Amino acid sequence: MSEMVDKLGRPIRDLRISVTDRCNFRCTYCMPKEVFGDDYAFLPKDQLLSFEEIERFAQIFADLGVKKLRITGGEPLMRKDISILVGKLLKIDGIEDVGLTTNAVLLRQHAQALYDAGLRRLNISLDALNPEIFGAINGRGVKPDFILSNIDFAQKIGFEIKVNMVVEKGVNESEIIPMATYFKERGIMLRFIEFMDVGNDNGWSFEKVVTKKEIYHMLREIYDIEPAEQHYYGEVAKRYRYQDNGAEVGFITSVSESFCSTCTRARLSSDGKLFTCLFASDGFDLKALIRSGKTDEALVEAIQNVWERRTDRYSDERTEQTAINRKKIGMGYIGG
Ligand code: GTP
Ligand code: 5AD
Ligand code: SF4
Ligand code: SF4
Repeated sequence: MSEMVDKLGRPIRDLRISVTDRCNFRCTYCMPKEVFGDDYAFLPKDQLLSFEEIERFAQIFADLGVKKLRITGGEPLMRKDISILVGKLLKIDGIEDVGLTTNAVLLRQHAQALYDAGLRRLNISLDALNPEIFGAINGRGVKPDFILSNIDFAQKIGFEIKVNMVVEKGVNESEIIPMATYFKERGIMLRFIEFMDVGNDNGWSFEKVVTKKEIYHMLREIYDIEPAEQHYYGEVAKRYRYQDNGAEVGFITSVSESFCSTCTRARLSSDGKLFTCLFASDGFDLKALIRSGKTDEALVEAIQNVWERRTDRYSDERTEQTAINRKKIGMGYIGG
């Protein structure tokens, strides 16, 4: 099969698979509790792709060029028997890497089973070390110490861990240096994520973004850091190394330095829709095809059709107007 590329010449390399739209957090920047209240209608179970369906899609995507899978949610550890799915995905021909992004609330219950299934990489979201700040951001009053102890627990099992911190002006900039210092000392890569206008509910504006440049200068006042080489083509984070102990720190600069030109990512929602951008308004209904008994060849053709027409480059085009006016899927639904 010749390499499939989109209208901007980008191949497909990564598939981010959302396994549930539910989450036990209500992060202000993702699923604000005013919108995602007690009566919010999450997807009914029969609308979720089954493990067999997910596995079949993952194999088809691998045949089309995907090498890397990332399991997301909502909160992926809320999906029953998640480690069984992970074990199956790890065995797929052509898949070289599988990672999982979690808020770590349920990690203690699941970490060993995930490790035994073969998973080695966890990306964990944590936005502050200060309990009041973190409790307010996660919308559930969960304390940072609980997440930190779960991180320690997973690290002892043997996981390679990265921590994601979304930085929002006026909310948690005061936590930038404490977080950097804490994770530097433990040799865990912390990645600062610029606050993004995902969905239409999170009150985003350019003013609320703390850019990579600002954070970089804050770090440079205290630490010597040097750029680290890219790990792979299209890597999302820009990484730096602390000169004294070799630990790394990263930046995800979707707002100030967009990286659409090397975007090789497709996203599969928990109800089986294919999205070619985190900021898309609609997805292509693959579940309808798989449930109507289509062959693998027909599914391949449908996916090729979508990818070959892809022109997405939202972060290159973002303005205050698009942030407000463009209809976009929610982050909780598609998992980042
Ligand atoms: P690894 O590099 O494999 O560790 O994973 P990752 O950084 O791609 O995954 P993770 O789920 O930790 O994502 C970190 C942040 O990057 C999240 O906020 C994502 O929404 C953001 N991100 C990932 N891919 C994209 C993308 O294609 N576009 C934009 N704008 N943001 C992205
Ligand atoms: N801006 C930036 N990052 C976000 N995430 C969720 N919502 C946003 C947003 N509005 C991050 C989470 C998690 C990852 C999957 O996406 O913190 O680390
Ligand atoms: Fe927060 Fe992640 Fe849950 Fe969104 S999916 S509310 S970012 S923990
Ligand atoms: Fe890819 Fe869309 Fe993110 Fe650009 S904004 S990097 S096209 S997912």
